Amino acid sequence: MSETPAEGPETPNLDFQGTTPYEDYVQADVLTHLQHTLSDDPGEMVFLVATQVMELWFTVLVHEWHTAGQALREDDIPTAMAALKRSTYELESLNASWKPLAHLTPGQFNSYRSALGEGSGFQSAMYRRLEFLLGDKSASMLVPHRGSPRVYAELEKALHEPSLYDEVLGLLQRRGHDIPAKLLERDLSLRYEPDPAVERAWQRIYSASGTTGESAAGDADLLRLGEALTEVAELVWRWRNDHLVATRRAMGAKTGTGGSAGVAWLEKRAAKNVFPELWTARSHV
Ligand code: HEM
Repeated sequence: MSETPAEGPETPNLDFQGTTPYEDYVQADVLTHLQHTLSDDPGEMVFLVATQVMELWFTVLVHEWHTAGQALREDDIPTAMAALKRSTYELESLNASWKPLAHLTPGQFNSYRSALGEGSGFQSAMYRRLEFLLGDKSASMLVPHRGSPRVYAELEKALHEPSLYDEVLGLLQRRGHDIPAKLLERDLSLRYEPDPAVERAWQRIYSASGTTGESAAGDADLLRLGEALTEVAELVWRWRNDHLVATRRAMGAKTGTGGSAGVAWLEKRAAKNVFPELWTARSHV
């Protein structure tokens, strides 16, 4: 074995008992054998892989926002900020994954669309957990997952847990902002609805910074938190809009494989603001 010229003292180790440590950690063999295309169309491979890649990013984002929410509950703003910051880089990578799918013509998409049957990203459980963490809770979104006990149980748990924004409101209240008890004690399984008191809290936090930042000393970290959340909200909005435009290009106004009105339904979803009062408060600063 040692006659091969490439094998000097600096050469990486080639000799392993069983599978490589890389494989044991990354499970690349599992990951790269999960691409079971349904049509003969060569373009379906990238559609499937881009979707799988996005699922992996959804998984990372759920992890980050969980970490951030937990840290906020413990008033540990630096840990929450680090997780939110990482998540903005991850969102950028997620959004870049649209590139290979953004220019599908209807003809290209049609060549494997029928193979998808009723399959739709709408049925993505990890995306639903992500939306739940952003505050868009809905018990009816659990229904498609009745046939998968583990997925259902995870989603049901997430439905009843505080969202990232619920944790933010708790922190604002502990920091002396007037957040109504009805919001802090709300039924967590329901969609968060914007509230004027929360808008006023963000308005105060953002106004305090002024141009000099002098009077902001007490709330400067909350302002930075508000900006990190705004960045997350903007990037999620970009994902939704990139999805909308890719869909419009690939299938026009046809109904979706998941049974919705397609683009019209996605337009409504994309119009919703993530962390709504962080956007409306800006009009009053
Ligand atoms: C360009 C190809 C794509 C088209 C034409 C398309 C089309 C659609 C349509 C029409 C819907 C509405 C539900 C339905 O009736 O099916 C939908 C929902 C959805 N799609 Fe896609 N999609 C595409 C790519 C992707 C990819 C790559 C992902 C990544 C996972 C994805 C994730 C989702 C999610 C998460 C929803 C639900 C959104 C929500 O609940 O607000 N889609 N898609």
